[in-house]
Amino acid sequence: MFNNTRFPRAKKFWYMGKLYDWNHPNIHVMSHALHYGTSVFEGIRAYKTSKGPAVFRLPEHVDRLFHSASTLSMEVPYSKEEITEVIKSIIKENKLESAYIRPLLFYSFGNLGLVPKFSPVELTIGAWDWGAYLGGKTEKGANVYISPWKRIHHSQLKMTAKLGGVYVQSAISGMEARSLGYDEAVFLNLEGNIAEGPGENIFIVKAGVLKTNDKTESVLEGITRASVLEIAKNLGLETHIGLMTKEDFLEADEVFFTGTAIEITPIIRAADGSNPQAEKKEYTIGSGKTGDITQKLAKTFNGAVRGNIKEYEKWLSYAGV
Ligand SMILES: Cc1ncc(COP(=O)(O)O)c(C=O)c1O
Repeated sequence: MFNNTRFPRAKKFWYMGKLYDWNHPNIHVMSHALHYGTSVFEGIRAYKTSKGPAVFRLPEHVDRLFHSASTLSMEVPYSKEEITEVIKSIIKENKLESAYIRPLLFYSFGNLGLVPKFSPVELTIGAWDWGAYLGGKTEKGANVYISPWKRIHHSQLKMTAKLGGVYVQSAISGMEARSLGYDEAVFLNLEGNIAEGPGENIFIVKAGVLKTNDKTESVLEGITRASVLEIAKNLGLETHIGLMTKEDFLEADEVFFTGTAIEITPIIRAADGSNPQAEKKEYTIGSGKTGDITQKLAKTFNGAVRGNIKEYEKWLSYAGV
């Protein structure tokens, strides 16, 4: 019934207390979330380490799942401790050495009025082997498209929450960028400043200073973002948090995405499609190659997530395989 070719090593998923074969259909087609996007989710990675798979910053991801749930007035049917244990067990169950993990809380079937008052909140968690989000672009660098669609504003929805419905905008803009031949989209916000990618934060480097924005610019303050800021400080880099204009972005020495799925991926070219009335202009960012600071941060990040740097082992939760 389902085509599993994109998830070759995902065998079982967890749903409301039980494991099911990956191809097992089990939610009602009238589930509230399917119709209205009333779901919240997390994207988490586990990495192969010498002590078995380790989940990166698991408590922070579980906390954020609960924060997102509160935005949709969800009563989460499991505790943080239970969810943490299920995440570890699902890695073991699928015999994964490294994994992308997707917990999803959603309003299930009960009623289809816009207010899900009779729709129970359900939880499912899947894990599978997922390589680099943009494939070879993680090394080579990405060519991005500054979207004409402005990011949903923080005065319109709580953008610090991972709300399923918000990702409709991400999916549309991601598809648009790819259909025009770019690797990924970049959103400006309603103020016209740089916001974020469809599922990524953005950093720029100018004259040796590392800069990123925060939630006041309508972005999800990512867990990778926080990790990169901490690594940068420990490496003695000057960091700055504040708004980034489109010009700051286009004229930066280095630019990169951060995110659980994309990890640290340089942006080396950009096309400005932000004004649909104007001709689309193409830009090379910095030297058009991965910059030194990006490389240095990525090297430390990649070592940290794999348990190779003692100072960052505090970020790892071993799945105990
Ligand atoms: C919209 C958006 N911004 C930023 C990020 C990066 O967040 P994190 O580093 O926690 O994955 C994500 C991914 O979760 C996202 O979906």
